Amino acid sequence: MQTIIEPFRIKSVEPLRHTTPEERERFLEEAGYNLFLIEARNILIDLLTDSGTSAMSTGQWAAIMRGDESYAGAESFFRFKRAAQDLTGFRHIIPCHQGRAAERILFGVMAKPGHVIPSNTHFDTTRANIEFTGARAIDLPIPEAADTQARLNFKGNMDVSALEALIAAEGAAKIPLAMLTVTNNSGGGQPVSMANMEAVKAVCARHGIPFYLDACRFAENAWFIHEREPGYGDWPPKRIAQKMFSLADGCTFSAKKDAFANIGGLLATNDDRVAQLETNLLILTEGFPTYGGLAGRDLEAIAVGLEEVLDSDYLRYRIISTGYLGRHIADQGVPIVEPPGGHAIYIDAARMLPHIPPHQFPGQALAVELYRHAGIRSVEIGSVMFGAAARHELLRLAIPRRVYTQSHIDYVVEAILEVNARKREIRGMEIVEEPPFLRHFSARFRPLAG
Ligand code: F0G
Repeated sequence: MQTIIEPFRIKSVEPLRHTTPEERERFLEEAGYNLFLIEARNILIDLLTDSGTSAMSTGQWAAIMRGDESYAGAESFFRFKRAAQDLTGFRHIIPCHQGRAAERILFGVMAKPGHVIPSNTHFDTTRANIEFTGARAIDLPIPEAADTQARLNFKGNMDVSALEALIAAEGAAKIPLAMLTVTNNSGGGQPVSMANMEAVKAVCARHGIPFYLDACRFAENAWFIHEREPGYGDWPPKRIAQKMFSLADGCTFSAKKDAFANIGGLLATNDDRVAQLETNLLILTEGFPTYGGLAGRDLEAIAVGLEEVLDSDYLRYRIISTGYLGRHIADQGVPIVEPPGGHAIYIDAARMLPHIPPHQFPGQALAVELYRHAGIRSVEIGSVMFGAAARHELLRLAIPRRVYTQSHIDYVVEAILEVNARKREIRGMEIVEEPPFLRHFSARFRPLAG
């Protein structure tokens, strides 16, 4: 059969609410043209993020009922730990309330002022947590990733020679760890090859630098390896994922992505001393080591989700359906980051709106227009999010897992093509109010006059 179907049926539904163009104009004004500040009930299709927005399965809801809410030593923790260890093989599994909590604890223990921490591309919370310790976050994507139109199988890879050059320039003593983000979210949701992970691991091992994965979308990355990397076509996704983790000395993980959970995360390491320091911090801010900021029922949902996400039928559908959105807009002339990523499609807003310079935030202008036109929420990943460190001006359309059907996506395609047809009318934005960091969450904007 050629038709790819959603590999699930729907048992429980949530109504969507339409709004009028006049209402949307008012909501935009009230929110300072920042879509984070719009109430979700006023959004029709929410592609703000794939994080924490998954639909849970019957298996997950059933597991939630057996959540053991004991303060210490809950049965749910051991199920969670077994699932995480079976997958990752790490000695220490530390539950956290989400990915950034794991990051804060990891860098709180390992990073000091003057340190540098390289990655293929750090996600915004990762960068902010590193910089908060006084260390520097360095992105070392492969040079080809700078071209949004280049179609590479593994465009999320790290530039290994740039990593060697950084180590030579800074000295290994100043690099407490190196990271790879799989998939490379800020770089377009692009996968990292097993060969690249092995190469980064080898360089790190030679210099005694611990190698960590930011494993948020490990299963999507494993599927790309299955599909694209020679030698892995016969491997089930779980075996590929296990090999990815086996290369690393530890990981951070947000269970809000590839574990279909609405909250949760973990920090893992093979280093007993680091684990001890991390656990001390965990108790201060997250909680006792057998719950780490989560309820027993959350730990249950994550344990089940970690198994479900590696199902081949799910991953095939997931990656193909994201590509469906990408191809249907790109083939009609909307410039996207090529090739389509795993969890999201990124429109190259600078290329689509060349009349809006980066300091007038073309990605933000496009996000506002897409909401105004069709009630769709997306997110800017460019100069609003990263300031001067922005490499591109992108608009991300992230697809929540198992939530929207093909007709929802067809509606999104139609809306984007209509906006694209009159793109020259879109005007840039200016910032009128901003917080000291992570400004995309709460900055307020004003549209510039035409
Ligand atoms: N690392 C990556 C690669 C991420 O994409 C995220 C979150 C985090 C770490 C932090 O995890 O949200 O559980 O604290 N990304 C979401 C997104 C927010 O929309 O891409 P968290």
